[in-house]
Amino acid sequence: MPAGFSRASGSIQKLDLTDSSAVESLLSSTRPAIVVHTAAERSPDRCVSDPMATTALNVDSTAHLSQLCARLGATLIYISTDYVFPGRPGEAPYAASTPTEPPNFYGETKLAGERSVLAQPAGVVLRVPVLYGDVEENKESAVNVLLDVVWNSNGKRTVHMDDWSIRYPTNTEDVARVLVDIAERYRDGNGEALPRVLQFSSEERMTKYEICTVLADVAGLPVDHIVANAENDPKAAGTLLFPLGVKRGRDWANVAANEGLRTGASATSVRLSFVDARTQGFGD
Ligand SMILES: NC(=O)c1ccc[n+]([C@@H]2O[C@H](COP(=O)([O-])OP(=O)(O)OC[C@H]3O[C@@H](n4cnc5c(N)ncnc54)[C@H](OP(=O)(O)O)[C@@H]3O)[C@@H](O)[C@H]2O)c1
Repeated sequence: MPAGFSRASGSIQKLDLTDSSAVESLLSSTRPAIVVHTAAERSPDRCVSDPMATTALNVDSTAHLSQLCARLGATLIYISTDYVFPGRPGEAPYAASTPTEPPNFYGETKLAGERSVLAQPAGVVLRVPVLYGDVEENKESAVNVLLDVVWNSNGKRTVHMDDWSIRYPTNTEDVARVLVDIAERYRDGNGEALPRVLQFSSEERMTKYEICTVLADVAGLPVDHIVANAENDPKAAGTLLFPLGVKRGRDWANVAANEGLRTGASATSVRLSFVDARTQGFGD
């Protein structure tokens, strides 16, 4: 059963994870075998500007959910982030066993969430890097939003774009398939064979500037207004997370062949619809 918050509608049940009695009531009545915990404040800047709300959601509600799942005998799968690692030059790729050292408050709260999940007997952590996929608005993803930059929706003459930090843009559908794999293993009683801290990433290495050039190529747009900034951005943590053992990365070279994206009329109406490329024989 899916649960959401501000966008809950239809089959998506509304649940405020910071309302512990509501969470307890829903889980006690539905008795799920597997709970996938995706909710978080994930913008490093918003985390800093509202630390109390961030702690309530990222830390406290995760601790409560962990304890509740343990009491009800449910397996909790917790989505975490590569921001638990510092991202210093030359250190990546990080193995799941690498000692953590978050570079910012967001990473600290996600690491605290990891610890409460791992303190329970049946909790699993899945770390993922920067994500893209189907969205309502491009600003929901740090990758999708680059499409707005390519379309130059703000009408800027020049945009400086990070060309230093290596990203591994990973598709949310691929993460969902990994989650299904993990859930099925636990459901079938084979979950114990998996490590309790898992990491999944695509294998495409790209800076944000390089992502812009790919998107510009796909959309048939010029990229002249975007200037590569090759200086170190200390806020950017670029890491390669070891994959779970299944190659699920996208073939970005084939993305340009997706004619559907070329015909998009405006920045807001064009989404990264090549997430569907797999069905046309691209991707895996
Ligand atoms: N986005 C990335 O690049 C990225 C990278 C690495 C890891 N992650 C991790 O992946 C997970 C998903 O991130 P995301 O990118 O999907 O974040 P997001 O787009 O900001 O979405 C946050 C989610 O949390 C829900 N939520 C917010 N407050 C809630 C509350 N009080 N009770 C219940 N649900 C609440 C929201 O539901 P509504 O929309 O219904 O309000 C939304 O589904 C997070 O754990 C994040 O740390 C994300």
